[in-house]
Amino acid sequence: MLSTSPQTAAWLDPMQTDIRNARHDDAARIPVLATQVWLHTYATEGISAGIADYTRSEFTPDKYLAIQNDALAHIWVAERGAHLIGFAVLNMGVPCPTRASTLAELQTLYVQAHFVGQGVGRQLLSVAEKTAFDLAGVPLWLTVNAHNAQAIGFYMRQGFTKQGTTDFVLGDQRHENLVLIGRIPTCT
Ligand SMILES: CC(C)(COP(=O)(O)OP(=O)(O)OC[C@H]1O[C@@H](n2cnc3c(N)ncnc32)[C@H](O)[C@@H]1OP(=O)(O)O)[C@@H](O)C(=O)NCCC(=O)NCCS
Repeated sequence: MLSTSPQTAAWLDPMQTDIRNARHDDAARIPVLATQVWLHTYATEGISAGIADYTRSEFTPDKYLAIQNDALAHIWVAERGAHLIGFAVLNMGVPCPTRASTLAELQTLYVQAHFVGQGVGRQLLSVAEKTAFDLAGVPLWLTVNAHNAQAIGFYMRQGFTKQGTTDFVLGDQRHENLVLIGRIPTCT
């Protein structure tokens, strides 16, 4: 649900998830959440030097502030009470490698592990899908690690289909990613 209720509503009901546009004062928390979710998902064999370098350089307040200041980008956060539990990043200016006319890349969709399976990912995804459709009439596209079965299952459940593959390079290692394209959202 995209909540437009006053922020106080989340304080009244601690189980209510509010989805809202990220503010500049979220830029300190988003990279911490991103680091936690990324490590939980991908650092399954411990912390290598490459992983430490990547997370320290990639998940910084400055990077998220730059995204917020990018006219083509959108960030939404999922919040319960005063706590961030997930976020999504959409960029409307990145052509899909398998279908160049589709420019709406869902660059990040992260839910903290304690809150997976509670509908938070679907809420964030539907806001991003609706935004891409309203702005450009296109579905989302994204890349996901080919071994990330949980996320692939989630996206398939949400109507995404595989279009091809690409590589994510971390240090001297290449990781196969699937390119997925979503559906056009139904009217709400
Ligand atoms: C992938 C992720 C965003 C999903 O978010 P979530 O909040 O756990 O998902 P939801 O609870 O909203 O699930 C929505 C639906 O997808 C289904 N679903 C979720 N995971 C699934 C899976 N592995 N296989 C099949 N269906 C799945 C749910 O059952 C639910 O179905 P419903 O619509 O019938 O109720 C979340 O698990 C996550 O952040 N994972 C770690 C980071 C990551 O891998 N991000 C994606 C990188 S591209």
